[in-house]
Amino acid sequence: MHRRESDELPRFARETELPAFRLRRRYAYYFIGFIFVCWVLYPSRKAPPQTGDVLKINWSNYAYSLYTTDSTALCHAVMLLDALARFGSKADRVLFYPEHWDTTVESMRDRDSQLLGVARDRYKAKLHPVKPLQVAGRTTKGDWVWDETVTKFMAFSLGYYDRVIALESDITLLDSLDELFLLPQTPIAMPRAYWTDSKPWPLATMLMVIRPSMDEFEAFKSRLEGGGDSMLVKAHRFDMEILNERYEDSALVLPHRPYALRTAEFRRHDHSDYLGDANETWDPDKVYKEAKLIKFSDWPLPPPWFMLPQEGVAEMQPDCGGSHEGTCAERRIWNGLYDDFRHRRKDVCRLLSMPAPDWDAIKPKRHRENATVEVAAPQDDGAAAPSVSLVGT
Ligand SMILES: *[C@@H]1O[C@H](CO)[C@@H](O)[C@H](O)[C@H]1NC(C)=O
Ligand SMILES: *[C@@H]1O[C@H](CO)[C@@H](O)[C@H](O)[C@H]1NC(C)=O
Ligand SMILES: *[C@@H]1O[C@H](CO)[C@@H](O)[C@H](O)[C@H]1NC(C)=O
Repeated sequence: MHRRESDELPRFARETELPAFRLRRRYAYYFIGFIFVCWVLYPSRKAPPQTGDVLKINWSNYAYSLYTTDSTALCHAVMLLDALARFGSKADRVLFYPEHWDTTVESMRDRDSQLLGVARDRYKAKLHPVKPLQVAGRTTKGDWVWDETVTKFMAFSLGYYDRVIALESDITLLDSLDELFLLPQTPIAMPRAYWTDSKPWPLATMLMVIRPSMDEFEAFKSRLEGGGDSMLVKAHRFDMEILNERYEDSALVLPHRPYALRTAEFRRHDHSDYLGDANETWDPDKVYKEAKLIKFSDWPLPPPWFMLPQEGVAEMQPDCGGSHEGTCAERRIWNGLYDDFRHRRKDVCRLLSMPAPDWDAIKPKRHRENATVEVAAPQDDGAAAPSVSLVGT
């Protein structure tokens, strides 16, 4: 007791005499305490980067899978290779092409061989010559129709990759999709065709993140050999049919925003399905900026490798709230997407656009054929399906 008092008294006296000194000393203690706390915490701050290092990604286990069955699609596949390279994608790139093609450039006009060479040498694509997959359908009149776009199923055969992203070629990529390789383990991940009327929306085939499997591949191949509904085959929709048959209840669903935007979205007035929130205000610039993949889909306008017929554009382009004069963000973006595709076709493939088809010949006779053609499965209004009328666009 006595000792404590005697200890405290002089200090108390000094503190009253020298407040400035007391303050400075107190701050010095605080400062030393702070340094000590920092020193204690420092190692634990360094810990997270160490665990991050464990997540080293071996990109050679992942690949993008593209395919072509004709010269037109070859150019578009090469354009996608170009986009992936521009966006700095780190995964491998695989291109399936018909085995009867060759990579020997015989003349300046041998564009297919030249483009295969560009794919292999400039874009480091691994070329896989294959016999294209086919599905046949017999129409009620007894004619046969064929579709080779089912060659996209070749992606399932790439067993030496852990994961493969299979893409269609009538799309514009606005960013790399590399992050999708790191999704939780699942046989397949796909976006939904948010523009279809049937609910739940079917899975859309423009983008598939798959775990390759020879068993699945063989199962799909025998399904294709069995043939398909002629309407679906003709509309290049049989792939969508059998993928939904197989995975509609089990696929991991990718958000269609931003992975599956369609050009037609910029022509619509109701955007709640795309936005996924009825209360969100539609902002075309924001939607365009955040989108990663845009599919050309403006039936009955021709696909983007054709010049667009002037009258068709005037009738079909985004209506800017009813004004056919002037412009607006939707119209600028929509026209810009077609222009960009044409320019890249010229720059990457040295190919000019095909001449515009006659609009009167391709536009729907709205007043005579008001009823839309119903197909057994929900369908995409892909530009490749000019014979089928569409619901909801
Ligand atoms: C990446 O994976 C490939 C194929 O599985 C393997 O050959 C290669 O050694 C791996 N690289 C590294 C750095 O682990
Ligand atoms: C949207 O707005 C309405 C009316 O303001 C409100 O009742 C509703 O809860 C909102 N919905 C969402 C998902 O925010
Ligand atoms: C065609 O459909 C539109 C919209 O559903 C309707 O307004 C129009 O009257 C129909 N025309 C004919 C000829 O049925």
